[in-house]
Amino acid sequence: MARFTDKVCIVTGGASGIGAKTAEMFVEQGGKVVVGDVNDTLGTEVCERIGADNAAYVHLDVTNPDACQAAVELAVEKFGGIDCVLNSAVKMAPGLLKDLPLENWNLMVNVGLTGTFLMSQAAGRWMIDNGRPGSIVTLSSIGGRQPYGMSGAYSTVKAALIMLARHLAIEWAGNGIRVNAVCPGHTETPLTAYLQDPEIKKGRSEVTPLQRVGQPVDIANGILFLFSDEADYITAAALDIDGGLSMTVMNHLPGRKWS
Ligand SMILES: NC(=O)c1ccc[n+]([C@@H]2O[C@H](COP(=O)([O-])OP(=O)(O)OC[C@H]3O[C@@H](n4cnc5c(N)ncnc54)[C@H](O)[C@@H]3O)[C@@H](O)[C@H]2O)c1
Repeated sequence: MARFTDKVCIVTGGASGIGAKTAEMFVEQGGKVVVGDVNDTLGTEVCERIGADNAAYVHLDVTNPDACQAAVELAVEKFGGIDCVLNSAVKMAPGLLKDLPLENWNLMVNVGLTGTFLMSQAAGRWMIDNGRPGSIVTLSSIGGRQPYGMSGAYSTVKAALIMLARHLAIEWAGNGIRVNAVCPGHTETPLTAYLQDPEIKKGRSEVTPLQRVGQPVDIANGILFLFSDEADYITAAALDIDGGLSMTVMNHLPGRKWS
């Protein structure tokens, strides 16, 4: 039997990149998905590609609690419940913290952090009220573990998402709901369009121990593992999927290399 037979997943930011790939693979492995996004054109296309029997699109702005609740209601009405949630929605507005306009800060915090809270809360409430166990995965980033250029707001949000996942995990463990974070490294999606530049892609591949940039399937594989029963004893974890990139900082120190 496929590992997600009779399972239902809500994917925020599911119209693109890692969210779209995870939605497709969840269905390939037997499940049903509700794809939620603010990009209705792309979201509808993703669901058409997957097929109407197994995928439903909903316009979902994760900053709106009523919209999160509506996504839950759609999943219940159309597919009979909710087992998994992927929080993938993101809004980027990079800049130096010294100059970052408040509206850019608020945008990143509202979509990335508050949106993850609201979607997790709506789905978690339904799971708890209906006595249904579940698995929630939130996309953080290796940027949530270490600072980097122009990324002060993004990285702060991504760090907070790890703590939010841990809090939800501990609060809801007694309800059989597991909550984990995934921290991708550079992954080729519309968000990282600069990776289309062959020079940048080559340079980034060379500094990555596994010698390539990530693909959405690499991240989706980790997410689906955390959704699955194989991860039944894993909660409050943050899983790096970055080809080893974030563990290379000591190699950049000038000086003795013991060679
Ligand atoms: N691509 C990478 O290299 C990378 C690295 C680390 C972490 N991540 C994280 O993975 C997640 C997915 O990234 P991606 O690369 O697939 O991005 P993406 O840009 O391809 O997809 C993000 C989706 O979020 C949607 N979205 C934006 N605002 C929304 C809102 N208010 N409500 C609902 N949906 C909204 C967008 O329309 C888009 O479809 C993000 O959280 C991102 O921070 C990505």
